[in-house]
Amino acid sequence: MNLMVFGAPGVGKGTQAKFLIEKYGIPQISTGDILREAIKKNSKMGLEAKKYMDEGKLVPDSTIIGIIKERLSEDDCKKGFILDGFPRTIPQAEALEELMNEMGIKLDKVISLSVPDSMIVERISGRRVCKECGASFHVKFNPAKVDGVCDYCDGELIIRKDDNPQTVKSRLEAYHAQTAPLFEFYKNKGVLVEIDGTKDVKSVTQEIFEAIEKA
Ligand code: AP5
Repeated sequence: MNLMVFGAPGVGKGTQAKFLIEKYGIPQISTGDILREAIKKNSKMGLEAKKYMDEGKLVPDSTIIGIIKERLSEDDCKKGFILDGFPRTIPQAEALEELMNEMGIKLDKVISLSVPDSMIVERISGRRVCKECGASFHVKFNPAKVDGVCDYCDGELIIRKDDNPQTVKSRLEAYHAQTAPLFEFYKNKGVLVEIDGTKDVKSVTQEIFEAIEKA
């Protein structure tokens, strides 16, 4: 099964992707996580991307499309995958379509999560992420079982560098200007499922599973 989790920064894409991995046994492909890993390794691509990420701007399409081409060709993607944070522009979506056509596969569902911007700011300001595996928690809404320790891999939980009010504002602006048009793009293709992301984590997960099973 090939899935995509779509929505604004901080809407809950990464949180829900982790439950989809557990249920369907397919890998999550998060372009944000791949870029953060490249920054950690001080690679040329990572250092270039960092300039954009620190300002809350989108990394150029050519870089992102290159990353996805490489990642989708890996063996673990043969049984399916969950795209998280990609595509984020119409050219990225068109490149994905071309690539999937070449691979002879299709997107089964695009799960669109919606939450008002005011709620997103509250979610991002309490977010803690695992330094090792990138899993997301929230100090109030989705706390880790042991304070400061990842439920999935025991990694240390930290605050992401771009989770500050100024960068969050830029990320939301980039989302509305460049990414939101993808909602209509996928709706027109008949693969979009709309999920109310304002409910608690478990209820959102439940709705996503029901929507996938129904399809
Ligand atoms: P990326 O890492 O993809 O960040 P993002 O899209 O901004 O998304 P987030 O990771 O912030 O949010 P999320 O939706 O996963 O929310 P989460 O589940 O953590 O990208 C970072 C940067 O990389 C971009 O700004 C850009 O520069 C670059 N980039 C990445 N991909 C790119 C691309 N394709 N093209 C160009 N540039 C790219 O949840 C948020 C918080 O809310 C957590 O604390 C969580 O515990 C909590 N929460 C989740 N669900 C609920 C709920 N139902 N109720 C209450 N709290 C909840």
